[in-house]
Amino acid sequence: MGLKNSSEQFGTVAKYLHWLVAAGILILLFLGIEQSDMERGDARTYIRFIHASLATVVFMLMTARLVWRFVSPPPGHPDGIPGWQRMSTSLVHWGLYICVFVQLSAGAMLTATGGKGLPMFGFFSIWLPVEEDHDKHEWWEGIHGFMWRPLAALITLHVLAALYNHFVIKNDVLRRMTIGTK
Ligand code: HEM
Ligand code: HEM
Repeated sequence: MGLKNSSEQFGTVAKYLHWLVAAGILILLFLGIEQSDMERGDARTYIRFIHASLATVVFMLMTARLVWRFVSPPPGHPDGIPGWQRMSTSLVHWGLYICVFVQLSAGAMLTATGGKGLPMFGFFSIWLPVEEDHDKHEWWEGIHGFMWRPLAALITLHVLAALYNHFVIKNDVLRRMTIGTK
């Protein structure tokens, strides 16, 4: 199995990036939703700090992923997939990229317009060239508080489609993103 994608399956780089980003986003959704019900205080501040630190790592991985997709394009659809499924797969994949980047950018902007740097687990912070601005902070907060819903809906569809291909259609779609095809 090579580092690059082949015409049949994903290579090692795309697989690691896919699963690291997937795990990161599921943890971010969990931490984000958890902290939204909490009272102000140290515990909530700490969860937000971990959430934003992990999100900054996911931002880097996701950017690497997009760049890698141009360096090494993904394999085509496996044989026998009907036209409507090819179309919906592409729509969901691009929808995921868009929702993830909007959510990441909104998180970064709400932090920056709140007058803070993007944290990295306390090692350092990344300061964006953005002025502190209360109105803009609230605007980005609104986008961030909304966008995770369509993102979570697309992730659900995406996971159901992967399981449907694997267990019902019994093709190689899940294998080529995990253990590989024979
Ligand atoms: C795909 C990536 C991300 C996901 C899925 C995500 C998810 C969430 C969710 C579900 C919430 C709760 C929203 C609510 O209260 O209604 C939240 C809040 C928050 N997120 Fe994210 N987030 C992501 C990226 C980021 C980034 C990049 C940052 C900053 C570096 C960030 C910083 C924050 C902060 C500070 C809050 C608390 C906001 C507030 O209510 O004032 N997030 N996030
Ligand atoms: C949670 C966040 C997730 C995101 C943002 C995400 C995003 C994506 C994207 C954008 C692709 C297209 C590959 C590319 O061309 O770049 C993809 C492929 C794939 N994902 Fe995910 N994914 C996530 C989670 C999952 C999970 C939990 C599963 C397992 C059930 C899964 C299974 C797959 C499979 C099997 C493929 C390959 C599809 C194919 O061969 O056409 N993904 N994912």
